[in-house]
Amino acid sequence: MATQDRPSADDLSAGVSVRDLADGGMMSGRVGDDDVVLLRRGDSLFALGAHCTHYHGPLAEGLVVGDTLRCPLHHACFDIRTGQPVRAPALDPIACWRVERVGDQAFVRERLPEPEPQPQRQRPHEATIELRPRAPDSVVIVGGGAAGLAAADMLRREGYQGALTMFSADDYPPCDRPNLSKDYLAGNASDDWIPLRPPEFYADRRIDLVLNARVTRIDPHKRELRLGDGKQLPYGALLLATGADPVRLEIPGAQSAQVHYLRTFADSRAIVAKAASAKRALVVGASFIGLEVAASLRARGLEVHVVDPGRVPMERVLGAEVGRFVQGLHESNGVAFHLGATLAHIEGARATLSDSATLDADLVVLGVGVRPAIALAEEAGLAIDRGVVVDEFLQTSAPGVYAAGDIARWPDPHTGERIRVEHWVVAERQGQVAARNMLGRREPFDAVPFFWSQHYDVTINYVGHAESWDSIEVEGSLAARDCAVSYRRAGRTLAVATIARDRQSLQAESAMESAR
Ligand SMILES: Cc1cc2nc3c(=O)[nH]c(=O)nc-3n(C[C@H](O)[C@H](O)[C@H](O)COP(=O)(O)OP(=O)(O)OC[C@H]3O[C@@H](n4cnc5c(N)ncnc54)[C@H](O)[C@@H]3O)c2cc1C
Ligand code: FES
Repeated sequence: MATQDRPSADDLSAGVSVRDLADGGMMSGRVGDDDVVLLRRGDSLFALGAHCTHYHGPLAEGLVVGDTLRCPLHHACFDIRTGQPVRAPALDPIACWRVERVGDQAFVRERLPEPEPQPQRQRPHEATIELRPRAPDSVVIVGGGAAGLAAADMLRREGYQGALTMFSADDYPPCDRPNLSKDYLAGNASDDWIPLRPPEFYADRRIDLVLNARVTRIDPHKRELRLGDGKQLPYGALLLATGADPVRLEIPGAQSAQVHYLRTFADSRAIVAKAASAKRALVVGASFIGLEVAASLRARGLEVHVVDPGRVPMERVLGAEVGRFVQGLHESNGVAFHLGATLAHIEGARATLSDSATLDADLVVLGVGVRPAIALAEEAGLAIDRGVVVDEFLQTSAPGVYAAGDIARWPDPHTGERIRVEHWVVAERQGQVAARNMLGRREPFDAVPFFWSQHYDVTINYVGHAESWDSIEVEGSLAARDCAVSYRRAGRTLAVATIARDRQSLQAESAMESAR
């Protein structure tokens, strides 16, 4: 991984020379027991915790952009002045230290206290001249996933004091969904890694999290919703964050006990339980999730077959060359591919493919895509276009109703098109922006889309959005697992996928931000 030019230093409290530290440059060291990054921005110096609060990413290998420090792994963004996580996926701040400069020497002094959230009160002058709309009396979030949790977290961080309720159809609190096909499924992460927040988080922040609670109807005119058990509830502002549901295959035998889908923690646990006694797994769909499942089941020692109707895995998203690389990576780890075929039917442990080939499998995982869960929005009469249509502030066609995450189709300023994606980080960031807009911020959602996918020891980071392209340029080498792949249309870079070039991925993101 490329790193910034940074002299190494040990004890930052004893004083280090910053004469050669360039603008945006970083050096790592320690203060007492803490790993700390010292960075320069213009003429100022900042000292911050060295590890990202998402997955412990090495922030010294990240990028300083404006007043933010960005994590190389999944692009979390921290304010260099306060340590606050301004953009997901990190939800917790990093520590900050006071820096004193004496000539060319910098001394990292005491740790600074974390700033308190400012209560969202209407100030007297705002009340008279109406600078900001009044915060809603109550907020209801429908969906206990990435977008829902990030929104609830942000509302309280922004000092929102009103009633805050989150309904989730799941039986488990908001969880780290990307982990369900990766480390957790592979057996490398324990159950306690999975909740995004501990139980006391909800109590401490007065977030009324109601599990096993499906919202069945919303009435945007009356500002009221109804639950599956018939209860009705008024809301001041509403966030729809209902995510997506796996596409179910309507083929004979698809209901059998060995057939699984993967969306929830319960789904992942069921696959883990089955994998304990299974010997041969069939994964249907060479999608990101399908192939992550294949890798995780290989890690558990199962024989794994993958069936997909395409010529090359992931060709539609990553192009043929990267797709063939991903296929080769899986094959070298023992996965057998059956491409150009679909699953026709299942009978007992025997799966028959569309080309009449048969495969024995005592575990079948169907990863054939998802559909945005838009029924609630549709029935409420909200504008729909292959997702819930939102404006740049993530508000739907109904005032006071916002949508975020897998269901939202928003006007993306980078492509100039309305897009909808199924990315974890985008869902969380949209939840955060929708939350601030509920409080009257009028902040457009303009983040460059980002996702990552992990296969064995290879992680692919992808920034931007390219539904089609007229050229692909590979810089570096796929075979050496060290490259940046640019997807271009009419000479414009729409997206960049990287392997082992995390800093380049951050630079590509930043370039797309400034290109607008
Ligand atoms: C196994 C797996 C691995 C993934 N890995 C990655 C990855 O590596 N990188 C990446 O970028 N993305 C990944 N994704 C995609 C990512 O998880 C989604 O894009 C993200 O979770 C979307 O967030 P969301 O809040 O829109 O929906 P979700 O997180 O799905 O949450 C939706 C919530 O809404 C609830 N709900 C639905 N309908 C109702 C209703 N009517 N009433 C009440 N509650 C309701 C659901 O129960 C759920 O709690 C992965 C997804 C899966 C399933
Ligand atoms: S580890 Fe920093 S964003 Fe994931």
